[in-house]
Amino acid sequence: MLVVMKNDYQDVSREAARMVAAAVRSNPEIVLGLATGNTPLGLYNELIALYRTGSLDFSNTTSFNLDEYLGLPHSHPQSYHTFMDQNFFSHVNLPRQNIHIPDGTVTRDYEAYCAGYEASIKAAGGIDLQILGIGRNGHIGFNEPTSSLASRTRLKALSRETIEDARHLFASDSEMPNCAITMGIGTILDSRRILLLASGRSKAAAVAKAIEGPITSSVSASALQMHPDVTFIIDEEAAYSLTQRDYYRHVLEMTKIFTPERLS
Ligand code: PGA
Repeated sequence: MLVVMKNDYQDVSREAARMVAAAVRSNPEIVLGLATGNTPLGLYNELIALYRTGSLDFSNTTSFNLDEYLGLPHSHPQSYHTFMDQNFFSHVNLPRQNIHIPDGTVTRDYEAYCAGYEASIKAAGGIDLQILGIGRNGHIGFNEPTSSLASRTRLKALSRETIEDARHLFASDSEMPNCAITMGIGTILDSRRILLLASGRSKAAAVAKAIEGPITSSVSASALQMHPDVTFIIDEEAAYSLTQRDYYRHVLEMTKIFTPERLS
C-alpha cells in the first residue's frame, strides 16, 4: 500500500489525474472503475482539461461505475447517471457503448441483474484501474459497515450516516433513496490497481482506520490492505489521524527510486 500525501484537494486531484492519464496513455484500451461523490470531481476536471488539450484520448476506454441509487430514473438530477454525464462523460470522447453504470431502475430479479453487471466486468477483461472515494464511515462504493469483505455486486441498504450525508441533495426526505446497487468489496478487490482519493478532516478517522486499523467489515476500506496495488492519495487534512506519516513519506521516496512504475 502506498500513501501519497499532498497539501490540498487540488494537489490530490492533479496527482490522481497524472496517474490516471499515464495509465490511459500506456493502455488506451484500459477498463476504468469510476466513482461519484464530491471527491473525484477535481480528478474529472483535470482529465477533461487534458482531453481538451489533445493529450488524452478515451476513444478505446471502457468504464464501469461503482454504484447507483435504487429507484432513481437515469434522468433524475441526483442519479449517478446524471452525475457522470454532467461531470465527465459529456466532456470527453469515451464512447457511450463502453460506459456501464448500475441501473437503479431495476425493479425485480435484482440478483440476476447484479450477476449480469459482474459478468460484463469479466467480459471486458476485468477492471484495470479502480478509482475510489471513502465515506465518513469507511465505506467504499456503497459497501456500508458490516458488508462482507467477499461481497459482489448487489443491492445494499444505505446506512444512516450515508443517508444523512446525501439527504440535502434531495428535495424531500421521501425522495432520498434508502438502497443502492453497488459493486461488492470482492468486486473492487479484483481490480488490478486501485487509487483511493480522500480530502478533508471529516475523512481523517476513516482514512486512519482503513490504512492502520485492523481489517474488519466494520470499515469496508480496511479490506484494501489485502490488495497488492493500492495507492491512497490524500491531503494533509485527511492524513491528520495517521500515526506513521513520516514512514509513508520514506516509503514513497524509496518507491520513486526502486519501483517508479508504481507511481506512473
Ligand atoms: P464524497 O463521498 O466524495 O462525496 O465525500 C465519498 C463516498 O461516500 O464514498
